[in-house]
Amino acid sequence: LKALILVGGFGTRLRPLTLTLPKPLVEFANKPMILHQIEALVKAGVKHIVLAVNYRPEVMVALLSKVEEQYDVKITFSVETEPLGTAGPLALAKEILGKDDAPFFVLNSDVTCTYPFEELRDFHIAHGGEGTIMVTKVEDPSKYGVVLQVPGSSAIDRFVEKPKDFVGNRINAGIYIFNPSILNRIEPKPTSIESEIFPAMVVDRQLHTFDLPGFWMDIGQPKDYLIGTCLYLSHLTAVKSPLIADPAKNPFVFKGNVIIDPTAEVDPTAVIGPNVVVGPGVKVGAGARLQRCVIMENARIKDYAWVQSSIVGWNSTVGRWTRLDNTTVLGDDVNVKDELTINGASVLPHKSLSANIYEPAIVM
Ligand code: GDD
Ligand code: MG
Repeated sequence: LKALILVGGFGTRLRPLTLTLPKPLVEFANKPMILHQIEALVKAGVKHIVLAVNYRPEVMVALLSKVEEQYDVKITFSVETEPLGTAGPLALAKEILGKDDAPFFVLNSDVTCTYPFEELRDFHIAHGGEGTIMVTKVEDPSKYGVVLQVPGSSAIDRFVEKPKDFVGNRINAGIYIFNPSILNRIEPKPTSIESEIFPAMVVDRQLHTFDLPGFWMDIGQPKDYLIGTCLYLSHLTAVKSPLIADPAKNPFVFKGNVIIDPTAEVDPTAVIGPNVVVGPGVKVGAGARLQRCVIMENARIKDYAWVQSSIVGWNSTVGRWTRLDNTTVLGDDVNVKDELTINGASVLPHKSLSANIYEPAIVM
C-alpha cells in the first residue's frame, strides 16, 4: 500500500509557530503532526509514503530519514518547484502512485482523528468507485469542503468547497483513498483537488463518502489546534492511553486529560489540567496554573503564572504572576516579563514583552 501526504502550503494560519518549523513538523501532543499520520499509515500496512512538499524540505529530510528506519517504511520527497495545490502533487508523483493497480491514500497534513485507514480501504474496495473521501460533521462548514450525497447511496451528488451559503454540514475531512485511474484526470500543474477534480468525479458518480467515526479537527490554526488538542486528549483518556498522566502519581494534575513529558519538571504545588500538554524539558514553577494549553519543548512557566487557552512556543518564558489567555500564541524563544496580562496576542519569535496586552494583537 502507498500514500501521499500533502505537506505543502505555507502554514501562514499557524504563525508564529510556522515561522520556526514547517507546519507538519510542529508538535501536536508532543509529536510532530506528520508523525501521527505516518504511524497510522504504517499500522495500516503502508510501505511507501510520498511527501508532497513545496517549502523547506531540508528540515523535513533530516527528521524523516530517521523515521524511515524506525518504522521500516520508504519515504520519498516529491518537491514542487511551484506550489501545485492539492491535486497537482498527485500527478507529479504519478510514477510511484500509478506503478500498480492498488488504491492509494491521500492526506491533508493538518488534520487529527483516529485515522481508520483499514476500514476506509475495505469500504472503498467494496463500492468499486474511483475514490472515497472521509467525511465528518461540523457546526460551521464554511471553512471546509461540503458534501451532499445521492439519497440512499454513498455516492456524492455535490461537492462545494468553502460554501458561502449553507448547503449542509457534512464536510471533507481531508483523508482520501483513490484508484490510480484518478491520475488520468490530473495534470502536473497547479490544480485544486477540491474545486477542480472532485466536481468532475462527482459528475461521473465516482466519488463516495465514508463516515469518520470519532473525533476530527483541522489543526492548521491556533484556535482549532487547541480544540483538536482537547479532542485528542479526551480520546486518549477514553482509551486509557499510558500517555495520560495518572493523577494518583502526579498530584498536580487537576481533572485529567493531561500529558506531561517525562523530562519536564513540574513543581508539586502547580495545578495542571484539564486539557494540557507539557513538552520535554519544560519547567513549571510553584503555584503555576495551566489549563487548556500547550507548553512546547524547553519553555519555562515561572511561579504563579496562569496560562489558559494558549500555546507557549519552544524555549519561551512566562514570567511570575503573568497571565496568558484567549488563544495567545508565543513563538520560539519569547520572553514575557513578570506580572503582565496578555490577552489574545500572537507573538513572533525572539520577542520580549514588558507591557500588558489587553486586546488581541500581533506582536512583531
Ligand atoms: N504539496 C502541496 N502543494 N501541498 C499543499 C499545497 C501545495 O501547493 N497547498 C496546500 N497543500 C496542503 C496543505 O499543507 C494541507 O495539508 C492540505 O494541502 C490542505 O490545504 P489547507 O490549506 O490546509 O486547506 P484547507 O484546510 O483550507 O481545506 C482543506 O482541508 C479541509 C479539511 O481540513 C480542503 O481539503 C477542504 O475541502 C477540507 O474540508
Ligand atoms: Mg487545513
